[in-house]
This record gives sequence, C-alpha cells and structure tokens, in this order.
Amino acid sequence: MTDAFKIRPARTSDVVEIRRLVKPLADERVLLEKEAVAYFEGIQEFRVAETPEGEVVGCGAVHVMWEDIAEVRTLATAAHWRGRGVGHALLDELIGAARDLGVNRVFCLTFEVDFFTRHGFEVMADQSAVDPEVYSELLRSTDEGVAEFLDLARVKPNTLGNTRMIRSL
Ligand SMILES: CC(C)(COP(=O)(O)OP(=O)(O)OC[C@H]1O[C@@H](n2cnc3c(N)ncnc32)[C@H](O)[C@@H]1OP(=O)(O)O)[C@@H](O)C(=O)NCCC(=O)NCCS
Repeated sequence: MTDAFKIRPARTSDVVEIRRLVKPLADERVLLEKEAVAYFEGIQEFRVAETPEGEVVGCGAVHVMWEDIAEVRTLATAAHWRGRGVGHALLDELIGAARDLGVNRVFCLTFEVDFFTRHGFEVMADQSAVDPEVYSELLRSTDEGVAEFLDLARVKPNTLGNTRMIRSL
C-alpha cells in the first residue's frame, strides 16, 4: 500500500504545524522544544511530509555541526500517521540533504534505536567521533543539539535515556 504524501522543503508557514508535531513529544521529553524564533531561523534545515489535502503529518531537519558531520533532528510523524513510511521518507530525504551539504557522517540522539538501526545508524561507542581539536571548537556553539552531541553536563536532563547514534554516508 502506498500512502499519499510528499516530502518537500519547509516554508515559514509550516512553523505552526512543526511546533504542533513537536509539542506532545517535547512534553514526553522525547524531543527538545524550542522557541518559535529557533524554528524560523532553522526553517531551511527542515523538510515536511504533506498529504494531498495539505496536512503536514511529519517533519525533520538536518543541522550541520562541522565540516564532516551533521545531525538529524526533530524527526517526527503525527501519531495518526505512524507506520506508513513517513519517517522513512523524511529520513531518506534528510540523509540526501546531508550528502549534498558535503558531510560524511550523520548523528542523532534518539529513543527510536530500532528505527535508526534499520536506517544504517549505529550506537556511538564513545566520544571519538570528533577529534579533541574539533571537540574544543564545538564547545563554542550555543546550539543545544551540539551540546547534546558533546554530552555536556548542562543538557543531561535532555539526553537522559536517549541513545547517541551515528551513520556513515
Ligand atoms: C521515529 C518516527 C519519526 C518514525 O516515524 P514513522 O512515520 O512511524 O516511520 P515509518 O512509518 O517510516 O517506519 C515505522 C514502521 O512502519 C512500517 N512501515 C514503513 N513504511 C510503511 C508503509 N509504506 N506501509 C506500512 N508500514 C510501513 C515499517 O515496518 C516501519 O517499521 P521499522 O521501524 O521496523 O522499519 C516516529 O516514531 C516518531 O515521530 N517518533 C517520535 C520522535 C522521535 O523519537 N524522533 C527521533 C529523534 S529526532
């Protein structure tokens, strides 16, 4: 069965829907909730899944962290659309975008270990994904996702129970 939806780049008018998708997951501490301004600033990183009726039923973003590494973040499918290929299609698109951006590794922080494993991600064994020099450069970032990647103490409440995963492209 092919469910009808398409993946397209997000537009500013999608921010309301993206926040609606993220809210219940943020309440469960599955995803990080951000201010509206952060979604507008990051809108070019986002893709959404849209039905023919114009309903946004999924979203996801790819955020570059360094020359060779990006993060897949805010991947979410509306509860009533789960298990119909939306997450898979979004992730494929984000991986393609990461390739186009020139990175060769993609990180994610997730409870959905099986889903990401089926998409080629592996649990990160340690911090050695970046060398110490890059690690110290990344410490200058104010981005929460980068802080989570670095496993900094101040974001531990966000990362609790999550698994750090990485995939080579
Ligand atoms: C992770 C998440 C985005 C997956 O979304 P999804 O749309 O349900 O994903 P899919 O439908 O592509 O895949 C889920 C299952 O549905 C099944 N499926 C996939 N395509 C299908 C199709 N066309 N028809 C029927 N079933 C299908 C598959 O069996 C798949 O199982 P698998 O995980 O064993 O491969 C979703 O569970 C979610 O929003 N989770 C909360 C947020 C989160 O944790 N995000 C990750 C961190 S950023």
